[in-house]
Amino acid sequence: MRGIILAGGTGSRLWPATKAVSKQLIPVFDKPMIYYPLSTLLMAGVSEVLIITAPSSQEQFQRLLGSGHHLGIDIEYAVQNHPGGLAQAFLVGEKFIGDGPVALILGDNIFHGPGLARHMAHSTPVKGGHIFACVVPQPQPYAVIELDGGGNPVSLEEKPGHPRSHYAVPGLYFYDNQVIDIARSLTPSPRGELEITDVNTSYLERGELHVTVFDRDTAWMDAGTFAALTHASEFVRGVEERQGIKIGCVEETAWRLGRIDDDQLARLAAPLTGNGYGEYLLSLLDRGEGSIRAHQ
Ligand code: TTP
Repeated sequence: MRGIILAGGTGSRLWPATKAVSKQLIPVFDKPMIYYPLSTLLMAGVSEVLIITAPSSQEQFQRLLGSGHHLGIDIEYAVQNHPGGLAQAFLVGEKFIGDGPVALILGDNIFHGPGLARHMAHSTPVKGGHIFACVVPQPQPYAVIELDGGGNPVSLEEKPGHPRSHYAVPGLYFYDNQVIDIARSLTPSPRGELEITDVNTSYLERGELHVTVFDRDTAWMDAGTFAALTHASEFVRGVEERQGIKIGCVEETAWRLGRIDDDQLARLAAPLTGNGYGEYLLSLLDRGEGSIRAHQ
């Protein structure tokens, strides 16, 4: 399956920090924000990635991640000229998607937990649409999904004033190829965007929307406000310092999945040994853990 990281947008809630730099390039604790969703896509089994950016920031993403070959994956880039909504990803990325299924992850969404890889494995291969649900205390700022007793979706609402459940829909979506036609058929919402919730509603109406509820061990954060960004950085720092592991470390993820070998991991570590990041990568080799053991 191919995967898209949506890393455009205006990032206005983080102005002035994001006036000159894309939100998805600013650090969440010790690495650029986009490392986290990229790592998640790798764990979902994706090895061909399209990164959609605003026109002015494409070059910076290319400088950071290049062709992806150093990670054993292929990365392509595309530009979204105006932030016309999340569902525009499928129109910008139409050629890249081709005639197969696609995963979409938002560039400012961070997932972590022992069950994440398992949840995602159960969501593919995709027939229809497959989305996730996370219990949150205040669901109003999110798309909110209502489930019946069997866990089947009943209703879906974008930013409801009176939410029908506490299940927020996080920014990770799996779709079959119908998503391109669905996105093409959408009309912009009152805020002028092609809404991902309208895509999901379309699958719901066809009876083809599947939902997996993340278990309580799976953390989901979106880093779109200063408070959320600080929270995410503190979360990552807490886990990393306490457990001696890294979250969203794309080099490690690629190595654990067997996309790169020990020699390549050592090569990636070499220029990074000034601050502990490179030492961490080298320590993975010393620990003798071997690859193909994705944990995050
Ligand atoms: P948002 O956080 O909803 O929007 P934003 O990033 O523009 O920020 P703000 O609301 O503070 O102005 O977007 C969620 C993610 O989706 C984020 O990674 C940016 C991305 N995005 C796009 O790439 N294109 C778009 O058209 C939109 C709306 C968002």
